[in-house]
Amino acid sequence: MKGIVFTEFLDLVEQKFGLEMVDTIINESDLPSNGIYTSIGTYNFSEMLSLLTNLSKRTSLSIDDLLLVYAEHFFGVVGRSYPGFLEQYNDPIEMISSIESHIHVEVRKIYPDAELPVFIVEEKTENSLVMIYKSSRAMYSFGRGLMNKTFEHFNAKATILVEKLKEDGTEVKFSIIRDE
Ligand code: HEM
Repeated sequence: MKGIVFTEFLDLVEQKFGLEMVDTIINESDLPSNGIYTSIGTYNFSEMLSLLTNLSKRTSLSIDDLLLVYAEHFFGVVGRSYPGFLEQYNDPIEMISSIESHIHVEVRKIYPDAELPVFIVEEKTENSLVMIYKSSRAMYSFGRGLMNKTFEHFNAKATILVEKLKEDGTEVKFSIIRDE
């Protein structure tokens, strides 16, 4: 997992819960990096899972809720860092359905070792999208948060249904319907 995902995560934890919480979860987690991340480095996903698990214990918020809020923050980061991606789209369904074929393809050019999910578009109309998410990291709530912010970015609203196809969340079906 790319360092930018860790540095932005710890920034958000500091913003929301304070520096002490950052220290606490770093100390409670088993981190080969010792909690020292650079945005261009690459670290094991298990470090993120460990940080999330300890933050979840300390805050009584579920890992899924933490990932959702974190994704909404991360959207702002990628939007500022890579404005070109957003400028190429004028519709949220167009953008979300292009993650696999365009946006993450470009991300991989910037970060060849990025660990990205697979999205398969099953059905697409002007106002709806059915997409399958697959990833060993089961970060579907992160995807959900990015989708929420994508709609917000285009001043649109949607109803997004999330259906686990595998109990552990490594395969999830998203059914997205634009609200009129
Ligand atoms: C400007 C647009 C975007 C950029 C630049 C971007 C970039 C990235 C980066 C850098 C990562 C981390 C890779 C790693 O840690 O190795 C990531 C992960 C991820 N992205 Fe995107 N992304 C964008 C939009 C989206 C959108 C709109 C979605 C939702 C459909 C999405 C879904 C995900 C998910 C779910 C992950 C977590 C990895 C996993 O589940 O295995 N991304 N993305």
